[in-house]
Amino acid sequence: MSPPSGAFDGSGTPPSQGSGAMFDGIAERYDLLNRLMSLGLDRRWRRRLVRAVLADPVPPALVLDLATGTADVALALLRADRALRVVGLDPSARMLAQGARKGAARAALAAGRLRLMRGDALRLPYGAATFGACCVAFGIRNVPDRLAALCELRRVTAPGGLVAVLELGEPRQGLLAPLARWHVQRVVPALGAWLSGAPEYRYLQRSMAAFPAPAAFLGLLEQAGLRDAHCTRMGLGSVHLFTGRVPRDAAGDTTNDAPLSEAEGCARGKSP
Ligand SMILES: C[S@@+](CC[C@H](N)C(=O)[O-])C[C@H]1O[C@@H](n2cnc3c(N)ncnc32)[C@H](O)[C@@H]1O
Repeated sequence: MSPPSGAFDGSGTPPSQGSGAMFDGIAERYDLLNRLMSLGLDRRWRRRLVRAVLADPVPPALVLDLATGTADVALALLRADRALRVVGLDPSARMLAQGARKGAARAALAAGRLRLMRGDALRLPYGAATFGACCVAFGIRNVPDRLAALCELRRVTAPGGLVAVLELGEPRQGLLAPLARWHVQRVVPALGAWLSGAPEYRYLQRSMAAFPAPAAFLGLLEQAGLRDAHCTRMGLGSVHLFTGRVPRDAAGDTTNDAPLSEAEGCARGKSP
C-alpha cells in the first residue's frame, strides 16, 4: 500500500507515530473519519470540553487550543462565546490548513478572533500567564513527554485559570467496557484503514491502550502543579475529560526557555 501523501518526508523514514507529520498524511480525511469512528459522538465530547472551559463566572477572554488540528474545538469555543478569542496551535501544517478552510474559521480569522499557528506542545511560544484558560482535545496522547506538556500549559495559563484535557483511552471498567473495547480494538482500526487506506489508524488503537489510567493521569496534572484535578468519564470509559486549575498564587512563574521533562517534573517551572 502506498503511503498517504505528505506522510513521509522524502527521506524514506516514516513519520513518528502521532507526530504532526503523521497527521499531515491524513488531514483531508481526518474530520470525516472522526465522525464515523466515534459514531458521531466526538462533537458531543468536544462540547463538554467547551462547557468546562467557559464555565467560570468570569469566562476567559483568550484561550489556547493546543493540538488544535482542524480547529473543531477552537471553532466550538468561538461559537459558544461571541466575545472570546482563541489561538489554535498544532505542528501539522495540513491539519491547520484544513481548519482554516472552514467557513466559520475564515470569518473568525478575518475578524481577528482566531489565530492558527504551527508549534509544539513541548515549547509553547508564549509568555507566562498569556491565556485565561488552555485546552487540548485528543492531542496529549501524541506528545512524547506529557508531563512537560502539562507544565507548559500550566505556565502559559493565568493564575486561577483552567487547564482542560479531553482524551481517549482504552475502556477498563463498567459493564459495557468489553463492548467499547471491541469497538476500539477491532472496529476503529478496520474502519480507519478501510476508509482512509492509511495504516495510521492502527496507531490510534495502540496509543489509546498505552494512555495512562485516569487516576495516573490525574497524578500527572498534580505533578504539573495544577490544583483541583478532576476527571469526568464519558463514552463508556473510552473518553475522559480532565481538568485542573493553576493556583491563584502562581504569578511570577516565567520559566519558558528550558522545556521540562517527565524525569524532572515541573521543579524548574515552579515559583520559589
Ligand atoms: C487526534 S488530533 C486532534 C485534533 C483536534 N484537537 C480535535 O479535537 O480533533 C491530534 C493532533 O495532535 C497534534 N500533535 C501531534 N504532536 C504534537 C505536539 N508535539 N504538540 C502539539 N500538537 C501535536 C497533531 O498534529 C494532530 O493535529
